[in-house]
Order: sequence, then structure tokens, then C-alpha cells
Amino acid sequence: MALTVSRVTVEPQLRQWHAVSAAAGDADHIGLPADPLQDLLPLLTGRTTGHLVEVWLGTTRDGPVAATLLRMPVHDNLAVVSLSLYVHPRARRAGHGRAMRAHAIYRARHHGRSRIVAEVTAPLGDGPEAPGPAFARAAGARPVLSEVRRVLDLTAVGEDRLAGMRDAAAAAAPGYRLLQWVDRAPAGLHADLARLAARMTTDVPMQELDWEPEVWTAERYAATEAETRDRGRRRVVSAVQDRSTGRLAGYTDIGVSLFRPQVAYQWDTIVLPEHRGHGLGLLLKFANLQLLRQEIPAAEVVHTWNADDNPHMVRINDAVGFRPVERHLEEQLDLPAGGPAAPPPGVPR
Ligand code: ACO
Repeated sequence: MALTVSRVTVEPQLRQWHAVSAAAGDADHIGLPADPLQDLLPLLTGRTTGHLVEVWLGTTRDGPVAATLLRMPVHDNLAVVSLSLYVHPRARRAGHGRAMRAHAIYRARHHGRSRIVAEVTAPLGDGPEAPGPAFARAAGARPVLSEVRRVLDLTAVGEDRLAGMRDAAAAAAPGYRLLQWVDRAPAGLHADLARLAARMTTDVPMQELDWEPEVWTAERYAATEAETRDRGRRRVVSAVQDRSTGRLAGYTDIGVSLFRPQVAYQWDTIVLPEHRGHGLGLLLKFANLQLLRQEIPAAEVVHTWNADDNPHMVRINDAVGFRPVERHLEEQLDLPAGGPAAPPPGVPR
């Protein structure tokens, strides 16, 4: 059945897009709900602080069946499109995924981009091949980064344990001061936070993923903070400051949408190399979970993603109580030079 692809520019279309992606997410993930619709509304502007954005919907005469989101970094990684592509579970194996992918490739070329990266999900153990990796393989993509998603049941972690672990870790690192805030960093810290955010793209294992070091400035960090607030998300942050220099040695942040505060996402965690080995990772994690609980009492679970070859982070998360749930693979598709500049048949320009 023919697929018509159209650009999503208004909320009713975004609602349809969301319904398709949420149904796909329910089928393919274990306990990872789609982002709330309200959280996606800013994407209709076509721009975030760090990306150009395009949202596309695929419809047959039976209604919407396919959804894609293209995110194109604007500060760095100018060859890349981060692609999300979903087909409704009731409309699979009918070629709609392939048609949407052809459209996404056309849009990537239109923007002068030559590399597509996309995340797919697979079960932790053996079993039949999951749709995402099979689809990516059929497209000629290769898995370049393997991660495990872990989940913490926050309701099962006693306050005594959080406080005890935090205090023990703080006592073991007397040269550092713990700083904590929500949404807005104290004045004067943005340059240090930008430095730490940039290190998230050089110090975290990327395996074979072609990802350039990201370019972060104090202004970009502040703009990202503002965007998080505008999207109705809260950012819960703990940082450690080297008492001898006043510079930040590491930080961790957790994001929560106020439209669904039960679900929290671990974002960055980094300790600069010269400050490792003092238990700062544990201190940051326990302190931030305490702050999360204080600030957003409705939070029930925290999701985190760790590369397989990041044993230090995994050990810390195991100690906190995170449990592995499923595998996430980053797939990379390099587009050969000189592909067609025109859209595939039936696809709008
Ligand atoms: N098992 C084995 N091979 C598969 C499967 C599967 N379950 N699904 C797709 N494929 C392969 C086949 O080679 C298929 O060709 P064939 O049917 O002629 O054998 C080819 O992919 C194209 O299949 P489509 O029918 O076009 O794919 P579909 O419309 O079913 O959508 C998709 C596939 C997008 C992976 C869907 O299952 C889904 O939404 N999954 C969740 C989200 C996801 O993983 N997205 C992929 C991101 S990767 C990327 O975009 C490069």
C-alpha cells in the first residue's frame, strides 16, 4: 500500500506522529515510554539550540503508519544526521520502513550530510533477531556502539542508604566541595560546565562511532539550560569543585519531563581524568539521586545507558542499584558520495 510522506508542522500532525512512535516504542522496548507529546512540541519550530530538526509522517489510506525525526547538529558533526525511524507494529514488513529510510537519506543529502546514525534495540540474551538491527543490517548500516540500558527503581532505594553512601563518599574526598542545583547553574560556572560537557564526547567510549568532539561554550551551555526549562524539563545537577582551584572537577545531571515526572533519565556524568580515583563518581551519583528525590518526589525510575567498555561507570551504577534491561546499538550508515539529489518517487521536496 503506497506511503505518502509529509512534513509535520502543526500539532495535530505531531499528535499522529507521536501515536506511531509511541506504539513502536511499546513494542520494541522494555519499560521505556515514549517522550510525552508536550515535550516534543518545540520540534515544530525546526530548530533546537544544538540541531536543525525535521519531523516527517508516513501515511497510507489506512492512516499514519510511519514516523521519522532527523536531528542535524549545527555546532559540530556537520556531516551527521541522527535519525529516529518508527513503523507502527501493525504495519510492519510492508516496505514502509524502507520508504521512510529512502526519504531520510534524501533529506540528509539535501542538507549536505553524509552519515546517518540511528539507535536500535535488542534483547540482552540470545533470541531471534530484533527488528531494528535486522532493518539496519538490510540497509547496509553497521553497529558501531553497543550499550546496555539500566534502570533503577528509586522507590526501592532507602533514604538512609543514599545519605550514608553520599556521606561516606564525601568524607573520602575532603579536597572537593559538593555543589547542587536545579535547572539553572549558579553564575560563573557555565564555562566549566561547557568544558565538562565537551569532555562527554572525548572521554566516554564511542567505540567505532564516527563522532567529532563537540564544541561547547559557556553560551551554548546556558542556551541548552534555557531550552530544557522551556520544554518543561527539569535538570537536577550535582557537581564537585576542587577546593584548591575553585574549578569544577566533575558533574552529573538527571533530566525529568514535568509532563511525566515518574520517569527520570540520567544524562551526563563525568569526572576529569586528573580528579579520578577519589570516589567522586559515587559521591555525585548518590548526592544527585537524593536531590532528585527531594525536588521531584514523583520520580520512580531512572534510566541510564552505558557503553559495554565503560567498566568504571557500570561498577558505580551497579553499586547504586541499577539493573540491566536491554541492549541499545548505535548503527552508522555512511552515504556514498554523489547519490541522487532528487527525492524518491512519491516523496515531496
Ligand atoms: N526481521 C528481519 N528482517 C527485518 C525485520 C525483522 N523483524 N524488519 C525489517 N527487516 C529487514 C528486511 O530485510 C526487510 O526487507 P524484506 O521485508 O523484503 O525482507 C527490510 O528490513 C525492510 O523492511 P520494511 O518492511 O521496510 O521495515 P518495516 O516497515 O517493518 O520497519 C522498523 C522496520 C523501522 C525497524 C520497525 O520494525 C520499527 O519501527 N522498529 C522500531 C524502531 C527502529 O528500530 N527503527 C530503526 C532505526 S535504524 C535506521 O533507521 C537505519
